[in-house]
Amino acid sequence: MARNKIALIGSGMIGGTLAHLIGLKELGDVVLFDIADGTPQGKALDIAESSPVDGFDVRLKGANDYSAIEGADVCIVTAGVPRKPGMSRDDLLEINLKVMEQVGAGIAKYAPDAFVICITNPLDAMVWALQKFSGMPKNKVVGMAGVLDSSRFRYFLAEEFKVSVEDVTAFVLGGHGDTMVPLARYSTVAGIPLTDLVDMGWVTKDRLEEIIQRTRDGGAEIVGLLKTGSAYYAPAASAVVMAESYLKDKKRVLPCAAYLSGQYGVNDMYVGVPTVIGAEGIERIIEIELNSAEQKAFDKSVESVAGLCEACRKIAPSLA
Ligand code: APR
Repeated sequence: MARNKIALIGSGMIGGTLAHLIGLKELGDVVLFDIADGTPQGKALDIAESSPVDGFDVRLKGANDYSAIEGADVCIVTAGVPRKPGMSRDDLLEINLKVMEQVGAGIAKYAPDAFVICITNPLDAMVWALQKFSGMPKNKVVGMAGVLDSSRFRYFLAEEFKVSVEDVTAFVLGGHGDTMVPLARYSTVAGIPLTDLVDMGWVTKDRLEEIIQRTRDGGAEIVGLLKTGSAYYAPAASAVVMAESYLKDKKRVLPCAAYLSGQYGVNDMYVGVPTVIGAEGIERIIEIELNSAEQKAFDKSVESVAGLCEACRKIAPSLA
């Protein structure tokens, strides 16, 4: 049986980390693509040279031509410009929209059957534009945001409660960014909802609100610390989990930016919702009942994503 082929469109900080993780997990052969001459080749060679030490067996290749991604099973897109301190994800919109147009054409031409995971920000708008530019099936183009946002939430909660990250689950909805909606009643420690933990005195409502706000600002916190770029270890790990669920048909339940056609009352937009990822791509979107406060927060989040899509349409009328 042929090995899986995973194409990484963008070989910067996240792209390089993805290649390394995919190698260590032996998920498939890797093609790193980038417009920068030498970067994908250098990273591919460097990681390949670590494979005898770490004992993993995958082929890694760097390329500056889209033909190298031909027949890829999975494409993970990080091409574009990351945030600098003081920049919001939205500031990136215009630059990265043009990048999505090129990437969409490249993937549609050489890897039309791939499962495409977009990471480029502003995420919910870029994945929407990428699907439209590429014309690929909506269940095969998905955005990585919720796995990262919920992982940050889980980590902060585990630190707060002094329990293992393994026993904390978290549930987030909505757009990636300041309007994301962490759902306390569906986030748990070993199955005990956060709302019960408040009643049990583990945490006050105010402290929980602070943790939720830190989660919303999680990306900006890293940008502020790094000063020269944005997060890459946790974003890469999150996308790898999604790729693995697709390639191994694991049917994991993962929060992703998925195309909505009426679910949650949203149409023609990508918004973060719980999904099932298996061999067919996004196989299911799980719709839960929201209470009025959650619905209000979700609506606000959807509104902000809609604003970004509208801004994209103004720049690229072909998206209308
Ligand atoms: N085609 C292919 N690659 C491109 C293009 C393009 N048109 N434009 C830029 N790139 C490449 C750059 O050369 C660079 O190597 O994309 C890579 C981006 O890497 P980094 O600048 O290191 O950014 P990274 O930290 O990996 O983040 C990538 O993910 O989380 C988001 O906000 C983040 O949008 C950013 C993206």
